[in-house]
Amino acid sequence: MTRFAYVNGRYQPHADAMIHIEDRGFQFADAIYEVWSVRAGELMDADGHFARLERSLRELRISNPKTEAGYRLVIAELLRRNRVRDGLVYLQISRGRARRDHAFPSGPVRPTVVMTTKRLDHAAAQRRADAGVAVISLPDQRWARRDIKTVNLLPNVLAKQTAHEAGAAEAWLVDEGGQVTEGASTNAWIVTADGVLVTRQTDHDILHGITRARIMQRAQALGYTIEERAFTVAEAQSAREAFMTSATSFVTPIIRIDDRPVGNGAPGSVATALRAAYLELI
Ligand code: PDD
Repeated sequence: MTRFAYVNGRYQPHADAMIHIEDRGFQFADAIYEVWSVRAGELMDADGHFARLERSLRELRISNPKTEAGYRLVIAELLRRNRVRDGLVYLQISRGRARRDHAFPSGPVRPTVVMTTKRLDHAAAQRRADAGVAVISLPDQRWARRDIKTVNLLPNVLAKQTAHEAGAAEAWLVDEGGQVTEGASTNAWIVTADGVLVTRQTDHDILHGITRARIMQRAQALGYTIEERAFTVAEAQSAREAFMTSATSFVTPIIRIDDRPVGNGAPGSVATALRAAYLELI
């Protein structure tokens, strides 16, 4: 079966899909992206991801080349052609193709739009969540506008690789003040001894996770208290529970941070309940 990608208005065989070498996404990471999870053929938290897409474009002053309805049509067609019922949709928009100069191109440039889909084994992800995962802490070496979802992900890539080489699923990134910002591709949470959920406030230091926002709503509805504040690795290691959230990992319990078990070293009941509550939304 041929797998398709969408590139600038055309559905192309994934293996042959290409963009120009002078695309500013390739040259400068002058591009933004979004990732939606797909379950049973439905986009999860579609509205939140579309809203963040528009915000990222606005922050970088890239004009939005399509309407939301236009994106939705392409996504539906790509999922259909690629027969994806459970997986993810990836959308990237760059400022476009122009002669390599750092400043924005002076003339009008058409933004580059690329969309791909990927099948994901949700059963394997569930097994991972049932077992819980380990994280390691590393210095946060990213730029100062992590709230914009740009493809400028090199520090995240290096941190994730270091984590994998250490046998961990994720890296928790730590700012200069010793506080955890977020994971390399997930938001970070802990549950205190009193059962309070803690996750870092949404300023410029972290990506404003759509799953994070949804879990906050669900947790509040279930009666949990939430504190939006930073926490240290030491506080997380001695917390009752820790977990991470993202479009692709949903809610995944963390059972070890560096060399210390969290809680009793098994997935916590709060994280497990919130994961179930999130998956019930579909
Ligand atoms: N990552 N923080 C970072 C740095 C991320 O890259 C992500 C998402 C999140 C969670 O955001 P959301 O809940 O909206 O997915 C937090 C995506 C999945 C990725 O890069 O593949």
